[in-house]
Amino acid sequence: ISLKPYNTFGIDKKAKFFTQISSENEVIEALKYANSQNTPLIILGGGSNILLTDDIHALVLKIEIKGIKLIQESDEEVYIEVGAGENWHEFVLHCIQKNWAGVENLSLIPGTVGASPMQNIGAYGIEIKEVFEGLYAINRETLDREYFSWKDCKFGYRESVFKNTLKGKYVITNVVFKLKKQPTFHTEYGAISQTLEEMNIKDLSIQAISDAVIKIRQSKLPDPKVIGNAGSFFKNPTISIPQFERLKIENPAIPGYPNEEGIKVPAAWLIEQAGWKGYTQGNIGVHKLQPLVLVNYGGGDGREIAELSKKIQDSVKQKFNVDLHAEVNFL
Ligand code: EPU
Repeated sequence: ISLKPYNTFGIDKKAKFFTQISSENEVIEALKYANSQNTPLIILGGGSNILLTDDIHALVLKIEIKGIKLIQESDEEVYIEVGAGENWHEFVLHCIQKNWAGVENLSLIPGTVGASPMQNIGAYGIEIKEVFEGLYAINRETLDREYFSWKDCKFGYRESVFKNTLKGKYVITNVVFKLKKQPTFHTEYGAISQTLEEMNIKDLSIQAISDAVIKIRQSKLPDPKVIGNAGSFFKNPTISIPQFERLKIENPAIPGYPNEEGIKVPAAWLIEQAGWKGYTQGNIGVHKLQPLVLVNYGGGDGREIAELSKKIQDSVKQKFNVDLHAEVNFL
Protein backbone atom coordinates (compact mmCIF):
# COMPACT_ATOMS: atom_id res chain seq x y z
CA ILE A 1 0.00 0.00 0.00
CA SER A 2 1.23 3.49 -0.79
CA LEU A 3 1.75 5.70 2.26
CA LYS A 4 1.30 8.87 0.23
CA PRO A 5 -2.05 9.80 1.82
CA TYR A 6 -0.64 9.08 5.28
CA ASN A 7 2.28 11.52 5.42
CA THR A 8 1.90 15.28 5.11
CA PHE A 9 5.09 15.50 3.04
CA GLY A 10 3.13 13.53 0.43
CA ILE A 11 6.02 11.14 -0.23
CA ASP A 12 5.06 8.11 -2.27
CA LYS A 13 6.66 5.17 -0.44
CA LYS A 14 5.07 1.81 0.27
CA ALA A 15 4.41 -0.17 3.43
CA LYS A 16 4.58 -3.96 3.28
CA PHE A 17 1.68 -4.35 5.75
CA PHE A 18 -0.74 -1.68 6.87
CA THR A 19 -3.65 -1.75 9.27
CA GLN A 20 -5.90 0.84 10.91
CA ILE A 21 -6.45 0.46 14.62
CA SER A 22 -9.49 1.82 16.43
CA SER A 23 -9.22 0.42 19.97
CA GLU A 24 -6.68 -0.55 22.60
CA ASN A 25 -7.60 -4.21 22.10
CA GLU A 26 -6.78 -3.94 18.42
CA VAL A 27 -3.40 -2.47 19.34
CA ILE A 28 -2.73 -5.47 21.57
CA GLU A 29 -3.85 -7.92 18.86
CA ALA A 30 -1.63 -6.26 16.28
CA LEU A 31 1.34 -6.27 18.66
CA LYS A 32 0.79 -9.97 19.43
CA TYR A 33 0.71 -10.73 15.74
CA ALA A 34 3.82 -8.68 14.98
CA ASN A 35 5.71 -10.20 17.93
CA SER A 36 4.77 -13.76 16.90
CA GLN A 37 5.74 -13.18 13.26
CA ASN A 38 8.88 -11.27 14.21
CA THR A 39 7.65 -8.43 12.02
CA PRO A 40 8.97 -4.97 12.76
CA LEU A 41 6.23 -2.49 13.50
CA ILE A 42 5.85 1.23 12.94
CA ILE A 43 3.25 3.44 14.57
CA LEU A 44 1.70 6.20 12.52
CA GLY A 45 -0.42 9.07 13.76
CA GLY A 46 -1.14 11.95 11.41
CA GLY A 47 2.16 11.42 9.57
CA SER A 48 2.90 15.11 10.03
CA ASN A 49 6.37 14.77 11.52
CA ILE A 50 7.96 12.06 9.39
CA LEU A 51 10.09 11.91 6.28
CA LEU A 52 9.82 8.65 4.34
CA THR A 53 13.15 7.94 2.69
CA ASP A 54 12.41 4.36 1.65
CA ASP A 55 9.71 1.71 1.43
CA ILE A 56 8.79 0.33 4.84
CA HIS A 57 9.34 -3.40 5.27
CA ALA A 58 7.23 -3.53 8.38
CA LEU A 59 3.69 -3.54 9.66
CA VAL A 60 2.42 0.02 9.83
CA LEU A 61 -0.26 0.65 12.46
CA LYS A 62 -2.33 3.72 11.71
CA ILE A 63 -3.83 4.76 15.04
CA GLU A 64 -7.49 5.72 14.70
CA ILE A 65 -8.57 5.47 18.36
CA LYS A 66 -11.27 8.12 18.79
CA GLY A 67 -13.19 9.80 21.62
CA ILE A 68 -13.11 13.01 23.66
CA LYS A 69 -14.38 12.37 27.22
CA LEU A 70 -14.76 14.64 30.20
CA ILE A 71 -13.51 12.39 33.00
CA GLN A 72 -13.31 14.77 35.97
CA GLU A 73 -14.32 18.29 36.76
CA SER A 74 -13.78 20.83 39.54
CA ASP A 75 -14.80 24.48 39.89
CA GLU A 76 -11.75 25.58 37.96
CA GLU A 77 -10.65 22.65 35.84
CA VAL A 78 -11.73 19.88 33.52
CA TYR A 79 -9.84 16.67 32.82
CA ILE A 80 -10.37 15.44 29.29
CA GLU A 81 -9.32 12.02 28.02
CA VAL A 82 -8.77 11.92 24.28
CA GLY A 83 -8.20 9.03 21.89
CA ALA A 84 -4.75 9.07 20.28
CA GLY A 85 -6.27 9.03 16.80
CA GLU A 86 -8.26 12.23 17.20
CA ASN A 87 -7.13 14.99 14.87
CA TRP A 88 -5.29 17.61 16.97
CA HIS A 89 -6.91 20.68 15.47
CA GLU A 90 -10.42 19.21 15.67
CA PHE A 91 -9.75 18.54 19.36
CA VAL A 92 -8.68 22.18 19.80
CA LEU A 93 -11.87 23.40 18.11
CA HIS A 94 -13.94 21.10 20.32
CA CYS A 95 -12.29 22.61 23.42
CA ILE A 96 -12.99 26.14 22.23
CA GLN A 97 -16.61 25.28 21.59
CA LYS A 98 -16.92 23.83 25.12
CA ASN A 99 -15.06 26.84 26.55
CA TRP A 100 -12.20 24.72 27.88
CA ALA A 101 -9.12 26.91 27.84
CA GLY A 102 -5.46 26.06 27.35
CA VAL A 103 -4.94 24.71 23.85
CA GLU A 104 -6.19 27.67 21.77
CA ASN A 105 -2.61 28.85 21.01
CA LEU A 106 -1.99 25.42 19.49
CA SER A 107 -4.66 25.78 16.80
CA LEU A 108 -4.09 24.36 13.33
CA ILE A 109 -1.09 22.21 14.18
CA PRO A 110 -1.27 19.19 11.86
CA GLY A 111 -1.25 15.69 13.32
CA THR A 112 -2.99 13.63 15.94
CA VAL A 113 -3.53 13.88 19.70
CA GLY A 114 -1.46 10.73 20.31
CA ALA A 115 1.59 12.23 18.64
CA SER A 116 1.33 15.55 20.50
CA PRO A 117 3.14 14.48 23.70
CA MET A 118 5.81 12.56 21.75
CA GLN A 119 7.49 15.79 20.75
CA ASN A 120 5.74 18.13 23.18
CA ILE A 121 4.21 20.17 20.38
CA GLY A 122 4.39 23.90 20.86
CA ALA A 123 3.60 27.16 19.15
CA TYR A 124 2.89 30.81 19.91
CA GLY A 125 3.98 30.73 23.53
CA ILE A 126 2.48 27.39 24.66
CA GLU A 127 3.72 23.81 24.77
CA ILE A 128 1.43 20.88 25.45
CA LYS A 129 3.34 20.04 28.62
CA GLU A 130 1.51 23.03 30.14
CA VAL A 131 -1.91 21.39 29.72
CA PHE A 132 -0.86 17.76 29.88
CA GLU A 133 -1.98 15.56 32.78
CA GLY A 134 -1.00 12.01 31.75
CA LEU A 135 -1.31 9.35 29.08
CA TYR A 136 -2.01 5.68 28.58
CA ALA A 137 0.23 3.56 26.42
CA ILE A 138 0.62 -0.10 25.60
CA ASN A 139 4.01 -1.61 26.32
CA ARG A 140 5.04 -3.25 23.04
CA GLU A 141 6.86 -6.07 24.75
CA THR A 142 4.67 -6.99 27.74
CA LEU A 143 1.40 -5.76 26.15
CA ASP A 144 0.51 -4.10 29.49
CA ARG A 145 -1.44 -0.86 29.55
CA GLU A 146 0.62 1.67 31.51
CA TYR A 147 -0.04 5.17 32.78
CA PHE A 148 2.56 7.93 32.34
CA SER A 149 2.28 11.02 34.51
CA TRP A 150 3.55 14.45 33.49
CA LYS A 151 6.82 13.70 35.28
CA ASP A 152 7.25 10.30 33.61
CA CYS A 153 7.13 11.92 30.17
CA LYS A 154 10.27 14.04 30.77
CA PHE A 155 9.16 16.83 28.47
CA GLY A 156 11.65 19.23 26.92
CA TYR A 157 11.70 21.50 23.90
CA ARG A 158 10.28 19.23 21.15
CA GLU A 159 11.26 16.28 23.36
CA SER A 160 9.81 13.59 25.60
CA VAL A 161 10.89 10.23 26.97
CA PHE A 162 9.15 8.64 23.95
CA LYS A 163 11.68 10.19 21.57
CA ASN A 164 14.57 9.15 23.81
CA THR A 165 14.99 6.21 26.21
CA LEU A 166 11.54 4.76 25.44
CA LYS A 167 11.70 5.29 21.68
CA GLY A 168 9.79 2.56 19.86
CA LYS A 169 8.76 0.85 23.11
CA TYR A 170 5.17 2.06 23.58
CA VAL A 171 2.00 2.75 21.64
CA ILE A 172 0.21 5.81 23.02
CA THR A 173 -3.54 5.17 23.05
CA ASN A 174 -5.12 7.97 25.12
CA VAL A 175 -3.99 11.34 26.43
CA VAL A 176 -5.45 13.22 29.42
CA PHE A 177 -5.41 17.02 29.38
CA LYS A 178 -6.09 19.41 32.24
CA LEU A 179 -7.89 22.47 30.90
CA LYS A 180 -9.27 25.56 32.57
CA LYS A 181 -12.80 26.84 32.81
CA GLN A 182 -11.52 30.38 33.32
CA PRO A 183 -8.97 31.17 30.64
CA THR A 184 -5.53 32.68 31.17
CA PHE A 185 -4.77 34.35 27.85
CA HIS A 186 -1.31 33.97 26.36
CA THR A 187 -0.71 36.82 23.95
CA GLU A 188 2.95 37.50 24.78
CA TYR A 189 4.07 36.20 21.40
CA GLY A 190 4.47 39.34 19.28
CA ALA A 191 2.63 38.06 16.24
CA ILE A 192 -0.47 37.25 18.31
CA SER A 193 -0.96 40.66 19.87
CA GLN A 194 -0.27 42.27 16.51
CA THR A 195 -2.79 40.05 14.70
CA LEU A 196 -5.45 40.57 17.37
CA GLU A 197 -5.02 44.28 16.86
CA GLU A 198 -5.30 43.95 13.09
CA MET A 199 -8.46 41.90 13.60
CA ASN A 200 -9.80 44.69 15.77
CA ILE A 201 -10.56 42.36 18.68
CA LYS A 202 -12.02 44.26 21.65
CA ASP A 203 -12.99 41.37 23.93
CA LEU A 204 -10.27 38.83 24.20
CA SER A 205 -11.45 35.20 24.17
CA ILE A 206 -10.00 31.79 23.46
CA GLN A 207 -11.91 31.88 20.18
CA ALA A 208 -10.21 35.15 19.22
CA ILE A 209 -6.77 33.77 20.07
CA SER A 210 -7.46 30.65 18.03
CA ASP A 211 -8.61 32.78 15.09
CA ALA A 212 -5.46 34.89 15.34
CA VAL A 213 -3.18 31.85 15.48
CA ILE A 214 -4.96 30.32 12.47
CA LYS A 215 -4.46 33.57 10.58
CA ILE A 216 -0.75 33.74 11.42
CA ARG A 217 -0.13 30.10 10.53
CA GLN A 218 -2.03 30.41 7.26
CA SER A 219 -0.05 33.51 6.33
CA LYS A 220 3.36 31.85 6.51
CA LEU A 221 3.14 28.10 6.86
CA PRO A 222 2.28 26.08 3.75
CA ASP A 223 -0.94 24.06 3.97
CA PRO A 224 0.17 20.40 3.72
CA LYS A 225 -2.94 19.65 1.66
CA VAL A 226 -1.58 22.01 -1.00
CA ILE A 227 2.22 21.78 -0.60
CA GLY A 228 3.73 18.74 1.10
CA ASN A 229 5.63 19.56 4.29
CA ALA A 230 6.10 18.48 7.91
CA GLY A 231 6.18 21.88 9.61
CA SER A 232 9.52 22.93 11.07
CA PHE A 233 12.12 20.55 9.74
CA PHE A 234 14.77 21.50 12.32
CA LYS A 235 14.67 22.47 15.97
CA ASN A 236 15.76 25.94 16.99
CA PRO A 237 19.30 25.45 18.32
CA THR A 238 20.50 26.73 21.69
CA ILE A 239 24.06 28.00 21.68
CA SER A 240 26.34 29.21 24.48
CA ILE A 241 26.35 32.88 25.50
CA PRO A 242 30.01 33.36 24.43
CA GLN A 243 29.30 31.85 21.02
CA PHE A 244 26.28 34.09 20.64
CA GLU A 245 28.37 37.15 21.56
CA ARG A 246 30.98 36.15 18.98
CA LEU A 247 28.36 35.69 16.27
CA LYS A 248 26.82 39.03 17.16
CA ILE A 249 30.03 40.86 16.27
CA GLU A 250 29.78 39.86 12.62
CA ASN A 251 25.99 39.59 12.59
CA PRO A 252 24.61 42.42 14.73
CA ALA A 253 21.05 41.55 13.73
CA ILE A 254 21.15 37.95 14.97
CA PRO A 255 18.02 37.26 17.06
CA GLY A 256 18.45 35.35 20.32
CA TYR A 257 16.22 34.28 23.18
CA PRO A 258 17.90 33.37 26.48
CA ASN A 259 16.91 30.08 28.14
CA GLU A 260 18.37 27.90 30.92
CA GLU A 261 21.05 26.41 28.66
CA GLY A 262 22.18 29.49 26.75
CA ILE A 263 20.65 31.45 23.89
CA LYS A 264 18.08 29.99 21.53
CA VAL A 265 18.61 31.22 17.98
CA PRO A 266 15.88 30.88 15.33
CA ALA A 267 16.94 28.22 12.85
CA ALA A 268 14.86 30.11 10.28
CA TRP A 269 17.21 33.08 10.59
CA LEU A 270 20.35 30.96 10.24
CA ILE A 271 18.94 29.16 7.19
CA GLU A 272 17.85 32.41 5.58
CA GLN A 273 21.29 34.00 6.18
CA ALA A 274 22.93 30.94 4.66
CA GLY A 275 20.97 31.74 1.51
CA TRP A 276 18.44 28.94 1.44
CA LYS A 277 15.15 30.80 1.77
CA GLY A 278 12.96 30.01 -1.24
CA TYR A 279 15.57 27.65 -2.73
CA THR A 280 14.07 25.08 -5.10
CA GLN A 281 15.56 22.00 -6.67
CA GLY A 282 13.23 20.02 -8.93
CA ASN A 283 10.09 19.22 -6.99
CA ILE A 284 11.42 20.07 -3.55
CA GLY A 285 12.75 23.09 -1.76
CA VAL A 286 12.85 25.49 1.15
CA HIS A 287 9.65 27.45 1.76
CA LYS A 288 9.79 31.03 0.59
CA LEU A 289 8.08 32.52 3.66
CA GLN A 290 9.35 30.24 6.44
CA PRO A 291 12.74 28.70 5.61
CA LEU A 292 12.51 26.31 8.55
CA VAL A 293 9.98 24.37 6.48
CA LEU A 294 11.18 22.06 3.71
CA VAL A 295 8.58 21.40 1.03
CA ASN A 296 7.57 18.85 -1.56
CA TYR A 297 5.80 20.61 -4.44
CA GLY A 298 4.61 17.20 -5.70
CA GLY A 299 6.41 14.07 -6.80
CA GLY A 300 9.44 14.87 -4.66
CA ASP A 301 11.46 12.06 -3.16
CA GLY A 302 12.16 11.65 0.56
CA ARG A 303 15.81 10.96 -0.06
CA GLU A 304 16.22 14.21 -1.99
CA ILE A 305 14.67 16.07 0.93
CA ALA A 306 17.01 14.28 3.33
CA GLU A 307 19.97 15.28 1.14
CA LEU A 308 18.80 18.88 0.99
CA SER A 309 18.46 18.95 4.78
CA LYS A 310 22.05 17.69 5.07
CA LYS A 311 23.27 20.45 2.75
CA ILE A 312 21.47 23.05 4.84
CA GLN A 313 22.99 21.65 8.04
CA ASP A 314 26.45 21.70 6.47
CA SER A 315 26.20 25.26 5.26
CA VAL A 316 24.82 26.57 8.57
CA LYS A 317 27.62 24.73 10.34
CA GLN A 318 30.19 26.26 8.02
CA LYS A 319 28.83 29.79 8.20
CA PHE A 320 27.95 29.99 11.90
CA ASN A 321 29.48 26.87 13.49
CA VAL A 322 26.00 25.95 14.74
CA ASP A 323 24.58 22.41 14.56
CA LEU A 324 21.00 22.13 13.35
CA HIS A 325 19.15 19.02 14.48
CA ALA A 326 16.21 17.62 12.55
CA GLU A 327 12.89 17.77 14.33
CA VAL A 328 11.28 15.48 11.78
CA ASN A 329 11.76 11.70 12.16
CA PHE A 330 13.36 9.95 9.21
CA LEU A 331 11.81 6.57 8.37
N1 EPU B 1 12.87 34.19 10.85
C1 EPU B 1 13.73 34.59 9.85
N2 EPU B 1 13.32 34.46 8.56
C2 EPU B 1 12.11 33.96 8.23
C3 EPU B 1 11.23 33.54 9.24
C4 EPU B 1 11.65 33.67 10.55
O1 EPU B 1 14.83 35.07 10.10
O2 EPU B 1 11.84 33.88 7.03
C5 EPU B 1 13.30 34.34 12.26
C6 EPU B 1 12.85 35.66 12.83
O3 EPU B 1 13.86 36.14 13.66
C7 EPU B 1 11.64 35.28 13.65
C8 EPU B 1 12.08 33.93 14.17
O4 EPU B 1 12.78 33.34 13.06
O5 EPU B 1 11.39 36.17 14.68
C9 EPU B 1 10.96 33.06 14.65
O6 EPU B 1 10.08 32.74 13.59
P1 EPU B 1 8.65 32.11 13.87
O7 EPU B 1 7.90 32.95 14.81
O8 EPU B 1 8.04 31.80 12.56
O9 EPU B 1 8.95 30.79 14.68
P2 EPU B 1 10.04 29.63 14.50
O10 EPU B 1 10.99 29.71 15.64
O11 EPU B 1 10.63 29.62 13.14
C10 EPU B 1 8.72 27.96 16.02
C11 EPU B 1 8.23 26.56 15.97
C12 EPU B 1 6.98 26.46 15.12
C13 EPU B 1 5.92 27.34 15.72
C14 EPU B 1 6.46 28.78 15.78
C15 EPU B 1 5.51 29.72 16.48
C16 EPU B 1 10.21 25.18 16.22
C17 EPU B 1 11.16 24.21 15.58
N3 EPU B 1 9.26 25.68 15.44
O12 EPU B 1 9.13 28.32 14.70
O13 EPU B 1 6.53 25.11 15.17
O14 EPU B 1 4.72 27.31 14.97
O15 EPU B 1 7.71 28.81 16.51
O16 EPU B 1 5.54 29.51 17.84
O17 EPU B 1 10.34 25.47 17.40
C18 EPU B 1 6.65 23.00 14.07
O18 EPU B 1 7.23 22.58 15.07
O19 EPU B 1 6.42 22.25 13.08
C19 EPU B 1 6.28 24.41 14.01
C20 EPU B 1 5.73 24.95 12.91
